[in-house]
Amino acid sequence: MSANGTKTWFDQQPRIDLGQSPTPLEPLDRLSEELGGPRIWLKRDDCTGLATGGNKTRKLEYLMADALAQEADCIVTYGAVQSNHARQTAAACAKLGLPCHLILSERVPWPYDSYARQGNMLLDRLLGAQIHVCSLDDVAAKRKAVLADLADQGKTVYDIPAGGSSEIGALGYTRCLAELIAQCRDQSINTDLIVHASASAGTQSGLVFGKSLFAMPGRILGINVFHPDPQTLKDRVSNLVQSMTERWPGAALAEAFEVNVNHAYFGEGYGLPTQACIKAIRMAAQMEGLLFDPVYSGKALAALIDQINLGNFSHLNDVVLIHTGGSASLGAYIDAFDE
Ligand SMILES: Cc1ncc(COP(=O)(O)O)c(C=O)c1O
Repeated sequence: MSANGTKTWFDQQPRIDLGQSPTPLEPLDRLSEELGGPRIWLKRDDCTGLATGGNKTRKLEYLMADALAQEADCIVTYGAVQSNHARQTAAACAKLGLPCHLILSERVPWPYDSYARQGNMLLDRLLGAQIHVCSLDDVAAKRKAVLADLADQGKTVYDIPAGGSSEIGALGYTRCLAELIAQCRDQSINTDLIVHASASAGTQSGLVFGKSLFAMPGRILGINVFHPDPQTLKDRVSNLVQSMTERWPGAALAEAFEVNVNHAYFGEGYGLPTQACIKAIRMAAQMEGLLFDPVYSGKALAALIDQINLGNFSHLNDVVLIHTGGSASLGAYIDAFDE
């Protein structure tokens, strides 16, 4: 249902139920009190279901509907070795009885054995995915070889981009925003600021598109965890939102869109936890009983905590953090938590 409760073109997009929604919106009162800033609300998209949950469930609900509409009988997708998107795609495929090929690049210089075996890698295997690991430079060649092999087998492949970040996948986060706006309205929570981890741009694009579509007052702030140059992320979000408006001309945006990205919490690179991130993960675990991850949601939480400590959000009553999941990778990062 759209933000104002009416049926729109958007509610008619093909989607299959793969997980749980609406996800809860919960206040983090112990953490908010400790920090002394606005009341922090957590949108629990770590509870979307589908092999431990996360933001990919919502994207996959639209992507898999599209794959089935195209009569695909095999799914191929891409990510880093500890990709949450890959794990959730493998789970969606298992649920739908489709073979799943994951092309996973060794792009993260995290030098511990657990990285290649634990966390999402273990789950990908359990979920029955066929895993193709290669170096970052070899992704294009590996993709070509896997697609050629599947074509030889007569398979109709549905090819999902990394992170599920196409226009169709991004729609999952437009739907999430409609849900969040309704929850905020019902509980009198201010939508002045919505913060989340941003990488392949699909989550942020869906939210930014939704904000303009529903004329939501407030700001969407993506915490860049992936791109060494934040302008690349901004450009990707702008381009993807633009493509969404072109793909769905019935989507009359009520206002022009803007893209806000904070790069200050990126650290030394994608997949490399910062000290602030590890500290934030411990705080949330020990004060709220919540699990964040060292690659995505933990960096977004670290950003929120630091911005509140700096007083930059002191004019706000409420701030919403979208928990995009990722805790399945914690075991792979066991060495980051040595005391
Ligand atoms: C746990 C988690 N949070 C956030 C993100 C970022 O989402 P997006 O790739 O849509 O920007 C990802 C995706 O890679 C993720 O796995």
